[in-house]
Amino acid sequence: MRIFEEMESEVRGYIRSFPALFDTAKGSEMFDEQGNRYIDFFAGAGTLNYGHNNPAVSEAMIEYIRHDGIIHGLDKATIAKKQFLQKFRETILAPRNLEYKVQFTGPTGTNAVETALKLARMVKKRSNIIAFTNSYHGLSMGSLAVTGNSFYRDESYGVRVNSAFVPFDGYFGDEINTIDYLRRLLEDQSSGIDLPAAIIVETVQGEGGIHVASDAWLKSLADICREFDILLIIDDIQMGNGRTGTFFSFERAGITPDMVTLSKSIGGGLPMSILLMRPELDQWKPGEHTGTFRGNNLAFVASAKLLEYWDTPDFANGVAAKSQRFEAGLSAIVNKYADTEMQLRGVGMVWGIEFNDPSFAGELSEEAFKRNLIIETAGANGQVIKCLAALTISEALIDEGLEIIDAAMQAVIEKRQQLRMGSLS
Ligand SMILES: Cc1ncc(COP(=O)(O)O)c(C=O)c1O
Repeated sequence: MRIFEEMESEVRGYIRSFPALFDTAKGSEMFDEQGNRYIDFFAGAGTLNYGHNNPAVSEAMIEYIRHDGIIHGLDKATIAKKQFLQKFRETILAPRNLEYKVQFTGPTGTNAVETALKLARMVKKRSNIIAFTNSYHGLSMGSLAVTGNSFYRDESYGVRVNSAFVPFDGYFGDEINTIDYLRRLLEDQSSGIDLPAAIIVETVQGEGGIHVASDAWLKSLADICREFDILLIIDDIQMGNGRTGTFFSFERAGITPDMVTLSKSIGGGLPMSILLMRPELDQWKPGEHTGTFRGNNLAFVASAKLLEYWDTPDFANGVAAKSQRFEAGLSAIVNKYADTEMQLRGVGMVWGIEFNDPSFAGELSEEAFKRNLIIETAGANGQVIKCLAALTISEALIDEGLEIIDAAMQAVIEKRQQLRMGSLS
């Protein structure tokens, strides 16, 4: 591992949490140089919803490369892009009565967010954007301006421009309806909040610590946007692609956002990002918002193949069953260790346990990794342990992973008891 320490920037992160030299991966298992096997409850931070090296995708990509299919095409017309668009319309948009136009942006999630913010400002001719406490929308400058966590923000970056933060659902507990708070700010000409071009929101805050917005809250947010002529942008980069049980995470609330950002699993592990927008918002002049890597044709091939999972309800039904397995297993752990103060939150295939003692989650992740489970932390202080397994994971692997979490809990509790006893004696 010395080469990484010698050559790679200090900014490296996951290599520190999961210090193994990974070599191969299949489905929900990863293998290191020595052939040790790890169960993956992380799924590339939500990029591998369909598992590592999904065989159908690997086959399609090998075939595409073998026949010298276009790999890089800027935004030229290619067969791969045509097939992706056709499949996306047929399988995802049309059955949901969505008539979005599709914009291919630069390859990472933050590119899609930047594009959405820029277009909203252009269309509405207003610069302010409202975002929420604990939000995470990426770390390039525009996206950082709507990302809450102070670990990523610094006053010196000049990130306070043209954005305002308001409390997310449940921020003050169940008693205070944060939509009422937002309404008051928008109605009051003296609130100091300029009428925004858009409100950007995650339906479930992933990096922010698994905060699930209720359906009613999301509906009221959509209503308020319509009432005040504000565009609603749903950032579905982490929670889209089936993560919450339906293809788009906002389906459960019955709302239709003005714009949707998608990335991560849409390319099946290959870089690809898109912005969906209501057709009347597509006010770009040709070439006005461009970028070299907007047409990752290999990702189009992967994506078109993966969208076949949504041809029938079977896949979503399977996800619902696995969701229940996670919820039941994690609830049992929370109940078993009732002396440790923690709360379970989640929906679909995204589950988090928040610990009152923030350092517990990091120690748990470390103990889990020692037992060959990859699971990361989330939240402002890394106080949440976050289960983000692939949607294709087998029930046997879910159970095995949950057993490791249980054993890791036990280990952290024992270690702490020993430390306490040591400091007493
Ligand atoms: C909701 C959300 N938006 C945007 C991003 C940024 O995506 P990327 O890291 O690909 O730029 C992320 C990344 O975790 C995310 O979870």
